[in-house]
Amino acid sequence: MPFLSETLARVKPSPTIAVTTKARELKAAGKDVIGLGAGEPDFDTPQNIKDAAKAAIDRGETKYTAVDGLPELKAAICAKFKADNGLDYTPAQVTVGTGGKQVLYNALMATLNPGDEVIIPAPYWVSYPDMVLLAGGTPVIVEGGAETGYRITPEALEAAITPKTKWFIFNSPSNPTGAAYTREQLKALTDVLMRHPHVWVMSDDMYEKLVYGDYVFCTPAEVEPGLYDRTLTCNGVSKAYCMTGWRIGYAAGPAPLIKAIGTLQSQSTSNPCSIAQWAAVEALTGPQDFIAANNAVFQRRRDMVVEMLNAAEGIECPVPEGAFYVYPSIAGCIGKTSAGGAKIMDDEAFATALLEEKGVAVVFGAAFGGSPAFRISYATSDAALKEACTRIQDFCAGLS
Ligand SMILES: Cc1ncc(COP(=O)(O)O)c(C=O)c1O
Repeated sequence: MPFLSETLARVKPSPTIAVTTKARELKAAGKDVIGLGAGEPDFDTPQNIKDAAKAAIDRGETKYTAVDGLPELKAAICAKFKADNGLDYTPAQVTVGTGGKQVLYNALMATLNPGDEVIIPAPYWVSYPDMVLLAGGTPVIVEGGAETGYRITPEALEAAITPKTKWFIFNSPSNPTGAAYTREQLKALTDVLMRHPHVWVMSDDMYEKLVYGDYVFCTPAEVEPGLYDRTLTCNGVSKAYCMTGWRIGYAAGPAPLIKAIGTLQSQSTSNPCSIAQWAAVEALTGPQDFIAANNAVFQRRRDMVVEMLNAAEGIECPVPEGAFYVYPSIAGCIGKTSAGGAKIMDDEAFATALLEEKGVAVVFGAAFGGSPAFRISYATSDAALKEACTRIQDFCAGLS
């Protein structure tokens, strides 16, 4: 009898964490490595948020809270949805979890039965397919390639829907591509969903506030109010508020689904950290102006990285609307040989050779179901980005 569960055999460890770990190991061994794998802002958590957490400790807010969130935090989340997205939710329609990841995982665990299908646009955030598999469902991947700006078409969505489809996972701006859907592009998708009333929508809006230029964020339940009763709108404080380590995410949707998620959470982790919840109250209700200041830095870095990558031979890099990732295609590099003698058969070989020969750690596209490409996180210093892009240019110039 095997000791490990059959469920675990269905999933693989996160490839993005694997890249970060490998870069860290090489660095520890004395190698000059620039890591561009991590998906978190390099900015510190704002001081007012840290102070709110300290004050919560001093007030003795150190006990268990309501399983799916403090009333004060739920009220702040309801106000956020109303102000930012024009969505009306009551506290009974809101759940708070230990990071956006746990909220998404809970929702899938609470709803999937064997045979249920979940539509996931590719390139996708690495965790979606594995979470679906862990919950006993079947991921159905819909390609959104470079030719469509890493967006799926309404036709492709329509073709993927079957009587077994339970969820459509939507993530805009996207991890890994940074691509975001305009209101018109999203409306074309919600029109398809309106024709299939059995399909629920899980909108992962984690990068809502990290958008650049004249792009205006939109979310499915807002664009198509007819989907409100079957949409779970997910968000969190990790990225926009530079709070990845605090582990607070949240979602809003129909009350029976929220209740089921709470039941599951009550038997696994109970409430998210009380202190982090008070910090999240301050994040959502306190000053928001640092977000625009951070975004100005992100946008400057994005523009520099895109320009430098497009100057590299064999690389084509679109300009993403949001998040802090770029996703260049390396179609022009495949089949070549690196200066160090590595045959670049696919994007994994490209990333491995780039790390070994130039000390630049990126995540290969196959990890996100979108090849041949790689992901760079530009949530790191301008100097490191410039040096990394110069090394990538050198690496590409050495391909023959
Ligand atoms: C698209 C997307 N959703 C959800 C998450 C999870 O965020 P959290 O750190 O709050 O669990 C991430 C984090 O990388 C993400 O990129």
